Amino acid sequence: MAKKFTVSIIGCGSRGAFAYGRTMKRLSEQWEIVALCDTDEEKIEIWSEQFGIKEENCFTDERTFFAEKRSDVLVLATQDRDHVRMCIRALELGYSVLLEKPITPLKEELERLLEAHKKYGGEVVVCHVLRYAPMFVRVKRILDSGELGKLVRIESIEQVGYWHQAHSFVRGNWRNDSETSPMIMAKCCHDLDLLQYYASSKGKRVYSVGELSYFNAENKPEGAAERCADCKYIHTCPYSAEKCYVENWKKDGRPENTWPYNVISVQTPHTEERLRKAYTESAYGRCVFACDNNVVDNQSVSILFENGVKADLTMTAFTQNMGRRMTFHCVHGEIRLKEDEELLEVQPFGKPLQVFKSADIIAEDAKDSFGHGGGDSGVVTALYRALTGEAETGTSLENSVESHLLALAAEESRKTGQVVVLR
Ligand SMILES: NC(=O)c1ccc[n+]([C@@H]2O[C@H](COP(=O)([O-])OP(=O)(O)OC[C@H]3O[C@@H](n4cnc5c(N)ncnc54)[C@H](O)[C@@H]3O)[C@@H](O)[C@H]2O)c1
Repeated sequence: MAKKFTVSIIGCGSRGAFAYGRTMKRLSEQWEIVALCDTDEEKIEIWSEQFGIKEENCFTDERTFFAEKRSDVLVLATQDRDHVRMCIRALELGYSVLLEKPITPLKEELERLLEAHKKYGGEVVVCHVLRYAPMFVRVKRILDSGELGKLVRIESIEQVGYWHQAHSFVRGNWRNDSETSPMIMAKCCHDLDLLQYYASSKGKRVYSVGELSYFNAENKPEGAAERCADCKYIHTCPYSAEKCYVENWKKDGRPENTWPYNVISVQTPHTEERLRKAYTESAYGRCVFACDNNVVDNQSVSILFENGVKADLTMTAFTQNMGRRMTFHCVHGEIRLKEDEELLEVQPFGKPLQVFKSADIIAEDAKDSFGHGGGDSGVVTALYRALTGEAETGTSLENSVESHLLALAAEESRKTGQVVVLR
């Protein structure tokens, strides 16, 4: 019989409960969720019922939760600034931790976490989920096989999506870097992690430009109201909450309990009236030109890696589609990964183009994977294998920290206009 590990979740939101909790419940021969902690009582109520957690194992305050160890594994999915404090306490108590990214936007906290990890031990897997997503793993395999020769450059674009920018980075949790992380860390620490993974090297020099170009008072249309519900542009502004949360929901076929609708309203079933009430009464109903946001809506980063590979990453809010597009330029061929089209194209020079669909890659390489292109179940399975001693996780805590240092260097460069020399 397979070994089963007990699990607690702190931060029962989109990632903690909806993504990992549900993944672990689905993989119930391997995991048993036994305790929950969230400051929001409504979330505790909903998820304790779904996961069957006893009342005495539900906590709304981290101090009581962390008074003792409650399981083998902790899923740590609170907000960015809470991660290191909670992770160090968890390691001290002897947990293995599935830690949401970004680890923290503060360099001194990264150093403190590495020290604590050395002192207490324990497995810490940072949720760089794309490292475990089959299409992204396939690219690494092709690069490492050498069939296209030496990798020279990577060009990557992170298409945030216009309404996703408004939802998460103008109105939502990641809008202001004094409370959370800079955009290049919050949205792109996956991208930076992937670049160093594919380059098989550490960043040496970094240069970045970018700004908040649009979502500010200067661009507020004449006569626009502070809140969409009162605004004359409610049916014409592409960023209006009515469009983002009601019209798009209807266009999407009125999906039940899916992101981003389940972020604004935890009540199900979703209805037009419930969604409208939820945005009208919350921060998600604010005009995008009248929020307390300061994170950028476009940024580019150029990186020179120690082994000579070069990479350019562009992050932009102003896209219809969401998802990454990456091109890998090797001396004997090109690889084009199109996350939004769920396609991978491999073009060996002078030979026929090979086109792979993401679904076929999943069926061939990891048929039981799901969530984030297979990344959510992939990271959970990687932790399981590490705990049973079957295989090492795809990436170490030190390596994850390295991608955070790249993000911090990019942000420093963007602010100072200088090249940042890392090593
Ligand atoms: N891996 C990914 O692709 C990915 C995607 C989105 C977000 N994230 C990261 O995941 C983390 C969580 O994001 P989310 O979208 O799930 O946010 P969320 O707001 O949906 O969930 C966070 C939960 O933490 C709870 N919480 C806040 N403070 C707490 C405390 N002191 N003790 C206990 N609970 C507390 C909140 O009530 C909320 O339910 C963030 O760090 C975010 O940057 C990762």
